[in-house]
Amino acid sequence: MKTCKKNSPTYTIILIFFVVLVSNTILIPLLLVESCDPIDKEALLEFKRGIQDNWFQRLGTWVPQTDCCTTWDDVTCDPATGRVVKISLIGFWDEFGVDTAYGMEGTISPFVGNLTHLQIFNLRALAGDLHLDHNQLTGVIPTSVGKLSLLQNLFLDHNKLNGPIPSSIGRLTYLQFLNFGHNNLSGVLPYSIGKLTQIQSIVLENNMITGIIPKSLGNLKHLQVLEMVSNRLSGRIPKQLGNAKELKRVCYQGIG
Ligand SMILES: *[C@@H]1O[C@H](CO)[C@@H](O)[C@H](O)[C@H]1NC(C)=O
Ligand SMILES: *[C@@H]1O[C@H](CO)[C@@H](O)[C@H](O)[C@H]1NC(C)=O
Repeated sequence: MKTCKKNSPTYTIILIFFVVLVSNTILIPLLLVESCDPIDKEALLEFKRGIQDNWFQRLGTWVPQTDCCTTWDDVTCDPATGRVVKISLIGFWDEFGVDTAYGMEGTISPFVGNLTHLQIFNLRALAGDLHLDHNQLTGVIPTSVGKLSLLQNLFLDHNKLNGPIPSSIGRLTYLQFLNFGHNNLSGVLPYSIGKLTQIQSIVLENNMITGIIPKSLGNLKHLQVLEMVSNRLSGRIPKQLGNAKELKRVCYQGIG
C-alpha cells in the first residue's frame, strides 16, 4: 500500500497556510477580549436609549456588538483600564453661536453617573437648530453626575435642560470648567458649589436661576471666570469672592 510522504515540503507549506488561516479567522477573534468596561458600556447604551431623535446618527456607532473603546465615535477610554475617560458630543458651532446642525432630542440618562472614570463630559449644543427649536436635550441634570468624581470639564451649555443644578455637583472636587449656560435651569445655586476648589470657570449665563450667589463661592481660590448674566439672581456679589485672587471676569447683574 502506498503511503503519503509525511514531511514533504508541500504538505508543510499547506499545513502552515492552514494554521495561519485558522488562527486569523477563528482563534484571534476568540482570544481578543473586549477592552470596554461592561459598566461603562451599559451606561453609554442607556444614554443612547434616552436620546429619541438622532437625525444625523451621531450615535450610530454605539452598538452593543462592538467595543466602545475602539469603534465608538466620540468616546475615549483609558487603554490600561478600558474605562471611559472622555465623551465629547459637541454640536456644530460657528462664530455666531450654534449653527443649524444635527439635533438630538432627549434626556441625559442617570446611568451617566456610572462612568466614574470620566474626566471630560461634553454635550454642548446638542439642541441643534435653535430657530426651528425642535431638537433639544431636555429634562434635568441627573443627580448622579455627582458620582463622576474625577470629572475635570463638564459642558452642558446650549441645550434646553431644566430643573435645578443638583447639589451633588459639590462632589466633583477635580472640576475645573463648568458650563451650563443657555439652558432653562431654575432653582437656587447650591451652596455645595463652594466645594469645587479646583474650579477655574463657572458659566451659567442665560438660565432662570433664582436666589442669591452663595457666600461659599469665596472658597474658590482658583476661580478666574464667573458668568451669570441673564438669570433671576438677586442681591450682590458676596464680598467673600475677593478671596479668588485669580478672578479676571465676573458677569453678573442682579434683579430687584
Ligand atoms: C448605574 O446607574 C443606574 C442609574 O443611576 C443605577 O440604578 C445602577 O445601579 C448603576 N449601576 C452600577 C453598576 O453602578
Ligand atoms: C423653562 O422653565 C420654566 C419653568 O421653570 C417653564 O415654565 C418654561 O416653559 C421653560 N421654557 C422652555 C423653553 O422650556
